Amino acid sequence: MTPTPRPPRRALRCAALLYSASLWAGCAEPTGPERPISGERIYLQNCARCHGPDGRGAAEAPAGTRDLTQPGYMSTLTDERIKMTIRMGKAPNMPAFGGRFAEPSMKVLIAFVRQLAAPPAAPATDGR
Ligand code: HEC
Repeated sequence: MTPTPRPPRRALRCAALLYSASLWAGCAEPTGPERPISGERIYLQNCARCHGPDGRGAAEAPAGTRDLTQPGYMSTLTDERIKMTIRMGKAPNMPAFGGRFAEPSMKVLIAFVRQLAAPPAAPATDGR
């Protein structure tokens, strides 16, 4: 007499496999290298509703919103001044963001704002 083979407990095995696969997926997914902070992303999330995605000003922007693409005006602003404006706001319509952006975020945000004006609004350095 041959022994009857044990019925494969397929369902159980599949469930176990799926479970461990999902564990693997869970481990492998969000622990990759951190996404680099993007000045553009910060700008689009916090500033574009007034200044517009390209810096020219949104249609529904409050009165007096600055056109950030004007090289003439932007070149008069130091990075420190831009940082203060973002931190403290400008009454009545530019809101104060306070400590919302940590220093590294602030840096990439200001760099992004700077390149909205073409040619890049860097102050002249050599007197020419
Ligand atoms: C609710 C609308 C609004 C939002 C949101 C907003 N701004 Fe402004 N922003 C203004 C207005 C209005 C002015 C003009 C203020 C003035 O000169 O009185 C201004 C001015 C500025 C200036 C010129 C500052 C100066 O010293 O003349 C810069 C630079 C600026 N904003 C950057 C930003 C950045 C960066 C963000 C996002 C972190 C942002 N703004 C978010 C409305 C806004």
